[in-house]
Amino acid sequence: MYASIILPTYNEAASLPRAIDAIRAAMAHRDDWEAIVVDDDSPDRTWELAQQIGRDDPRIRCYRRLDRRGLSSAIVDGLSLGTGERLLVMDADLQHDVTKVPDLLASLDAADVAVGSRYMRGGGVGEWSKWRIFLSRVASWSARIVLGLRSTDPMSGFFAVRREAFLQVAGKLNPRGYKLLMELLTLLRARRVAEVPYVFAPRQTGESKLSGGVIWEFFLSLVELATRNVVSARFVKYALVGLSGVGVQYGSFYLLWSRFMGAEAGTFTAIATAAISNYMANNVWTFAERRHRSLQDLLRGFGLFVVISACGAFINQSVTWYLEHLGALLPAAMVAGIVASTTWNYFLNLDLTWKGHARPE
Ligand code: GDD
Ligand code: MN
Repeated sequence: MYASIILPTYNEAASLPRAIDAIRAAMAHRDDWEAIVVDDDSPDRTWELAQQIGRDDPRIRCYRRLDRRGLSSAIVDGLSLGTGERLLVMDADLQHDVTKVPDLLASLDAADVAVGSRYMRGGGVGEWSKWRIFLSRVASWSARIVLGLRSTDPMSGFFAVRREAFLQVAGKLNPRGYKLLMELLTLLRARRVAEVPYVFAPRQTGESKLSGGVIWEFFLSLVELATRNVVSARFVKYALVGLSGVGVQYGSFYLLWSRFMGAEAGTFTAIATAAISNYMANNVWTFAERRHRSLQDLLRGFGLFVVISACGAFINQSVTWYLEHLGALLPAAMVAGIVASTTWNYFLNLDLTWKGHARPE
């Protein structure tokens, strides 16, 4: 069955030709395949190299993306371009074991997704730092527990999927960060998953693009997938800002109260400080793309934010007192109060303070 091999690249000029050669060797027994390089306009001109290779060998195509960047969205674009019944994704830096490509494709005889796994018998991670092994294991482990996935390596970048299965869920994907397979597996939960072990090779040239930002994106995606989008990435950010506000409020209270003012004035000033810091943090982070910039927008936004938060504080107190009155334990009543008020604050701020249709930058 015709196969499309997707190779996302960013600054891989040094390894791409060798990766293509390795694919040619691994697929030498058949001619019903194509390879698609999806390059995000790499400064090292990987795209130029790919185009050149494609001129001599029309099985190799290149999509040079000029308008977007990101591994997951590059993979989705490659999968959408692929014409084969079977689609395979692999890194172009030779860290994936190219000799396993035929096994992965053949596994789709009896499965809808085939995962190249580092964490099963016969697989491995080679020369990773302890820190990287730890991060990778925590990520795989939480994805498996939280999302109930059956794969031993849901974070793998080496996998194959039937085109028909991909097309069924393609419209629901939210490509971000490095975890496209995790998303695919979640959406295709009911389908059959096969696994093929491989050993992750050390990088020979160039460098990894995995960064702290990628890990953070992973965490946000996990929350969204686990709650079926009931809890959005934006809500997580909002809640974290709220948490930081608690720190700011108590921190500034102790500072003010111990040195400069009485308890009442201190409480008031501390609350005001936390309100300002929360508003600013939400403005530049949680609602970054709807940011208030002009003095007028900032004042109006802060005013609304304070009014909504004051109602939220009232809701928090009421829920806590009421549940305690009904006989709930104080900590449980407090948590319920915090959840109720945070939810209230979030949705009102989303719809009023930072309502959509932000003016263009
Ligand atoms: N088009 C495009 N755009 N390609 C990218 C981008 C991007 O923004 N970022 C990375 N790539 C390409 C790289 O050029 C490489 O071919 C492949 O994607 C993997 O990137 P690496 O930066 O080498 O990832 P890694 O080796 O650190 O991470 C590996 O392990 C992860 C899980 O632990 C990869 O196999 C990942 O796919 C995997 O999720
Ligand atoms: Mn790599």
